[in-house]
Amino acid sequence: MSGSIYLALETSCDETAAAVVADGRRVLSSHIVSQTAIHQVFGGVVPEVAARQHVESVNEVVEIALKTAQVKPSQLSGIACTNGPGLIGTLLVGLSAAKALSWTWDLPLITIDHLLAHVCANYLNTDLEPPFIALLVSGGHTQIIHFDSYSHGKILGQTLDDAAGEAFDKVARLLGLEYPGGPAIDKAAKRGDSKVFRFPEGVVSGYDFSFSGLKTAVLRTVEKLPKPLPVDDLAASFQDAVTRVLVKKTLLAQQEFNVPRLVLAGGVAANSDLRNKLSAQSPVQVYFPRLEFCTDNAAMVGAAAHFCGVQSSLDARVYSRN
Ligand code: KG4
Ligand code: ZN
Repeated sequence: MSGSIYLALETSCDETAAAVVADGRRVLSSHIVSQTAIHQVFGGVVPEVAARQHVESVNEVVEIALKTAQVKPSQLSGIACTNGPGLIGTLLVGLSAAKALSWTWDLPLITIDHLLAHVCANYLNTDLEPPFIALLVSGGHTQIIHFDSYSHGKILGQTLDDAAGEAFDKVARLLGLEYPGGPAIDKAAKRGDSKVFRFPEGVVSGYDFSFSGLKTAVLRTVEKLPKPLPVDDLAASFQDAVTRVLVKKTLLAQQEFNVPRLVLAGGVAANSDLRNKLSAQSPVQVYFPRLEFCTDNAAMVGAAAHFCGVQSSLDARVYSRN
């Protein structure tokens, strides 16, 4: 598993990203072209617009990633690329580019699952090794996963309705905050008081989650309040309800499976309150990726290729959900 250098691509949603990663740990380059400003006017990602933007940017990000890393194609161990879950049209752009590079340079193609890649972001610049419990919280997923090896994770629980990131985005819109809602709520909550409103955590058994009741509770409260809304207090109280339940169930899983480490992954892993609460309450070491590797990036795909990758055929396909 040592001595690898992967060129990695990521186009599952609205970031066009390429990176060069050595031995699954060292980021030699990571370049991201974000489309956030383009989709902001629509209040969310428009798949067709996103796919066209990826076509515009994909060659450029690959060129910049290789140049910054000062790595030649002949030094690469393979081309890694996200092939799902995500938006079909955007995934196709990245996978087609990766197939073309693999064929042209006669290098193995390694297709990577986006969720596994988010978890593998924790290998970058650290000494993390399995076993661990991962809390994966992104725009599309909320899962607690028990990893007993690099490539094998058992899902212990997941959301029954909205993903945590989706709840952040929807509540932000209710409060009149900009898209994407997670960072906006994180920022507003720092100025607010989380004790002003008491929102329900969502009572679901085991390691599963539900955020739709919480979202409705915020909506009902907002409807009853006079304007202007106490946005900062609402943001802080909502964020507190989400992070309380995420931390509680992650700590329960740590206890039950007696793992020596906890790992945070996905876009919501950038949330300062979640990071602080988990670090403060965990009896074992907590890992979280550097901020730029929490949200979508290609370095995490390069790490996944090293630790979990198997060679794919050039017939590899994309998938929207697992
Ligand atoms: O992992 P990611 O970049 O894309 C998916 O694979 O879904 O996650 C994006 C999600 C968005 O819902 C965004 O609002 C959320 O991550 N997010 C945050 C923060 N930064 C990004 N949520 C809470 N606090 C943040 N600081
Ligand atoms: Zn993601």
